[in-house]
Amino acid sequence: MSADNTIHGQWSSRLAFVLAATGSAVGLGNIWRFPYLAGENGGGAFVVVYLACVLLVGLPLMSAEILLGRRGRRNPMDAMRSLALAERRTPWWGGVGLMGILAGLLILAFYSVVAGWLLFYLYRSVSGWAAVGTAGLDRLFSSLLSSPLWLVGTHTLFMVLTVTVVAMGVQGGLERSVKILMPTLLFMLLLLFGYAVGTPGFGEGVRYLLVPDFGVLAERPALLLEALSQAFFSLSIGMGALMAYGAYLPKHASVFRMACWVTGLDTLVALLAGLAIMPLLFSYGLEPAQGTGLVFKTLPLAFGEMPGGRLWAIVFFLLLIIAAWTSAISLMEPATAWLIENRRFSRPLAALTAGGVAWVLGVGCALSLNVWQEYKLFDKNLFELLDYLTAKIMLPIGGVLIGCFAGWVIARRLTLAELHVPDGMLYRAWLFAVRYLAPAAVLVVFLDAFGIIGFSG
Ligand code: TRP
Repeated sequence: MSADNTIHGQWSSRLAFVLAATGSAVGLGNIWRFPYLAGENGGGAFVVVYLACVLLVGLPLMSAEILLGRRGRRNPMDAMRSLALAERRTPWWGGVGLMGILAGLLILAFYSVVAGWLLFYLYRSVSGWAAVGTAGLDRLFSSLLSSPLWLVGTHTLFMVLTVTVVAMGVQGGLERSVKILMPTLLFMLLLLFGYAVGTPGFGEGVRYLLVPDFGVLAERPALLLEALSQAFFSLSIGMGALMAYGAYLPKHASVFRMACWVTGLDTLVALLAGLAIMPLLFSYGLEPAQGTGLVFKTLPLAFGEMPGGRLWAIVFFLLLIIAAWTSAISLMEPATAWLIENRRFSRPLAALTAGGVAWVLGVGCALSLNVWQEYKLFDKNLFELLDYLTAKIMLPIGGVLIGCFAGWVIARRLTLAELHVPDGMLYRAWLFAVRYLAPAAVLVVFLDAFGIIGFSG
């Protein structure tokens, strides 16, 4: 095997990489989180700010992550470590990668529990829930959260799905699954969007989502920060998931171009999801500002009232499960690659170990919603704590450091060659973004998360 290669093999084509990285990016963040955040933050204004964050901070940082992965050709820890040594810098940079690997398992723990809710809702859609009504749906959601058996059971099932794919390897598992799942996802989303186009609320939904009313900025100062952290989460930046995927990217591909595709597709899916969901709310007279319960408590109501609603509900929850699945795979890959490269585990054993750790933590999350409800730290149960720790602390720090590492430590000729862009305006803009813009923006989120500056209260 050539020194250029990884022991895991590589993606068979650029398309395979784009599908896999898009599979990572497109997840609960796009279809569940983005619509409810937009709904809570007045629609258009949030969307415009979000798009600016994606373009100015997200795209440059994603390029940085993928280029470090491809240059380092290892798991995030060893990639950053060896790149640092090659530049005669401290190998401690590997710690950033290690933190990312851990963050991935922590995110996976609660992510898998939420994905389990989706499995439950899929099951309920198949068995039929027409005419449950608002109160019924409220009850359904809270009865799910108070049932350890359902939560742990569905979480376990989802983890088994994830481990299975990761155990089968880069080409045989990851690549094969995304090649089937991503086109299916896009097809289902277009189907749902097509349905939304025919509903009476379509025009109103589109206007709500795409025409900004910056007046809401005055009422919701946290909007800027919400949009920025949503860009991080949705694009899968800050913990090395895309670095691990970049390690399997063939040499000839332009990293910048790949990042453009993934960023563009992720944004397209978020917008399509918003455009499929908002019109339904307006058509059925529901409130867009529903918070996290949007998908679970209000959409089924719309599904219950529309003709053929049961089928649409099945399509919708399948879509979300697929999206969550391909994201979960990417959350596990860094830890799996680390175990294979450092501990000489076989891939199936590595996947099982990483999945096992995330599973145990996930069981804790599931139980923290009911039987362990009263055990709290900083007024948060384990589920909320992991969410907070990763999204608000580990991802922002990881993102700043990864961007700075690529922008300040790695030699310019190397980043130029990896990005595959001409040495001109575009490259200088990228350098400015990873060196100054992204760290400054993320610092604001970070200070806010610690309550040092109190935008989001
Ligand atoms: N981006 C995924 C989503 O939108 C979640 C995700 C997968 C993620 N890998 C990640 C988030 C890495 C942060 C870091 O649901």
